[in-house]
Amino acid sequence: MNQPAMEGLRLNVPAYVKHARLVSWVAEIAALTEAADVYWCDGSQEEYDRLCTQLVEAGTLKKLNPALRPNSYLALSDPSDVARVEDRTFICSEKQDDAGPTNNWMAPAEMRALLQTGQNALFKGCMRGRTMYVVPFSMGPLGSHISHIGVELTDSAYVAVNMRIMTRMGRPALEVLSEAGEFVPCVHTVGAPLQPGEQSATWPCNKTKYIVHYPETREIWSYGSGYGGNALLGKKCFALRIASTMGRDDGWLAEHMLILGVTSPAGKKYHVAAAFPSACGKTNFAMLVPPKAFDGWKVTTVGDDIAWIKPGKDGRLHAINPEAGYFGVAPGTNYKTNPNCMDSLKRDVLFTNVALTDDGDVWWEGMTDEPPAHLIDWQGKDWTPQIAKETGAKAAHPNARFTVASTNNPVLDPQWDSTTGYAIDAFIFGGRRSTTVPLVTEARSWAEGVYMAATMGSETTAAAAGAQGVVRRDPFAMLPFMGYHMGDHFAHWLGVGAKLAATGAELPKIYCVNWFRKGADGKFVWPGYGENMRVLKWMLERVDGKASGEDNLFGISPRYDDITWSGLDFSREQYKSVMSFDHGAWQQELKLHDELFNLLSPRLPGELLAIKAQLEHKLAA
Ligand code: GTP
Ligand code: SPV
Ligand code: MN
Repeated sequence: MNQPAMEGLRLNVPAYVKHARLVSWVAEIAALTEAADVYWCDGSQEEYDRLCTQLVEAGTLKKLNPALRPNSYLALSDPSDVARVEDRTFICSEKQDDAGPTNNWMAPAEMRALLQTGQNALFKGCMRGRTMYVVPFSMGPLGSHISHIGVELTDSAYVAVNMRIMTRMGRPALEVLSEAGEFVPCVHTVGAPLQPGEQSATWPCNKTKYIVHYPETREIWSYGSGYGGNALLGKKCFALRIASTMGRDDGWLAEHMLILGVTSPAGKKYHVAAAFPSACGKTNFAMLVPPKAFDGWKVTTVGDDIAWIKPGKDGRLHAINPEAGYFGVAPGTNYKTNPNCMDSLKRDVLFTNVALTDDGDVWWEGMTDEPPAHLIDWQGKDWTPQIAKETGAKAAHPNARFTVASTNNPVLDPQWDSTTGYAIDAFIFGGRRSTTVPLVTEARSWAEGVYMAATMGSETTAAAAGAQGVVRRDPFAMLPFMGYHMGDHFAHWLGVGAKLAATGAELPKIYCVNWFRKGADGKFVWPGYGENMRVLKWMLERVDGKASGEDNLFGISPRYDDITWSGLDFSREQYKSVMSFDHGAWQQELKLHDELFNLLSPRLPGELLAIKAQLEHKLAA
């Protein structure tokens, strides 16, 4: 292949690369960013090990004690670069109205001037002194009709090694692309060019950050952050924001959902997809260990964060997990609440912003009841339980994460990698609410379920920069991840349901859950984690038409005796406190639904307004 003429920079295109448009785009971005070198990732183990060794030499990674945590590393980020930055995330559709009022927007021409074309454009020269990694990846199984290819150009080797775990990355993805295949171009820089001879920070980043999506041209440009969803562009940027737009146009759904399989003692297998906002329990639910009394029940993980859902020829909705790894929350994870996750993390893990023990292993809040006597915290400082008591310093950042391949998960579903996915029996939507919302409610219709999902509220968490614990509407757990107008998303869900129903198909049931109600003592009343199986079992019995329940204000909930309690001491009184409806609280809640609906009008489907009118009527009665 002829390389485009480039003064002073070789593109180093491997002989197996046959895609001329890809090569000329790489040349264009290398010229714009003035990268010092270009390296094409092949995705091999040898390459992963080599890049990790380089990152250790650069001080970005620390190799953990191989006797305790084989083949694993710890990265400590810059203290300013620890989570997604929602206020710096933009959907640059041609028309502002298409991004909708819940997204930040700028006209594409204006944004392009700022990033690419203007005199002081941020991407001009942004990779000076650094290597640009070409990271080809497939979201979804290689070669599947359901999958999509992306190519991320990044000046962060840390991003490249994370992408190898999180996606099907490297040469095989380029082979799928062949000579002229479609790919989503993703450009990422930490925004920290180097002067000749200047040494890089161990975690380079920039105070200025832009996470930018052009939905019409299906492009992603990310500036200034090296962390998680800001930088691993296959995840939220592609598989949710860009893919949601693809799904709207082509009749499918890209959702912030885990996918799990449940096998009953009788051997019947069910599949459930659940949307909870960031740091609200998806990874934990996807790896759930049923309580002892549920002998014979087994949960397997298909995915822990993102689902692509497409109507199948059988009239059912089929879900696949486009990712190949987990980028999960470390704090709170332990052998009591999530043993499968702990077992997944025994080896081959990249940890970010957890604490380092004196013997070269990792620790985070909640991992053990007793903290170690001494640690190096996520900011590289000495940490002891005494210091924590005096200053409140956390050993691990609350949004500290692990990156690990799905194949490390001992309860990985045997078909997690299948190209057809699984037909979904039930959808679950759940927020983090210390008050108001009951443990579980079943929607009486698809439209009522869409209403539940659309009006879901949740308390904000450390997964995003900004205030925590503030209740906000988080429709479909997609508020930070929608690539288009939220009102159109509601209409799209109603439309997908109507289309399936018209074929005579039975639609999945829809549930609303809340694991997080608190008592007067400020503690969670519901034990959560594995005990969530009790709620899941009731749902599956409902799917089979076997369990009963009673009508409440906005759906059907189980009575105390509809739930299997063996092995758990949970009184009727406690049950009442996680199930109860407070009239005043719901009047307040409906006002918040109103606020959201007003914000989204005139693109709000009338069907949802009709459901709200019914709720108001019932509440008044
Ligand atoms: P993202 O990766 O940010 O999308 O998060 P996630 O939805 O996968 O959340 P995850 O399962 O990592 O849980 C986040 C936090 O919530 C952790 O600290 C968990 O320990 C806690 N958590 C998860 N499930 C439950 C539950 O059932 N009850 C309670 N009380 N806490 C839970
Ligand atoms: C989330 O915030 O929902 C995550 C982590 O899954 S991140 O990849 O940073 O978006
Ligand atoms: Mn997530």
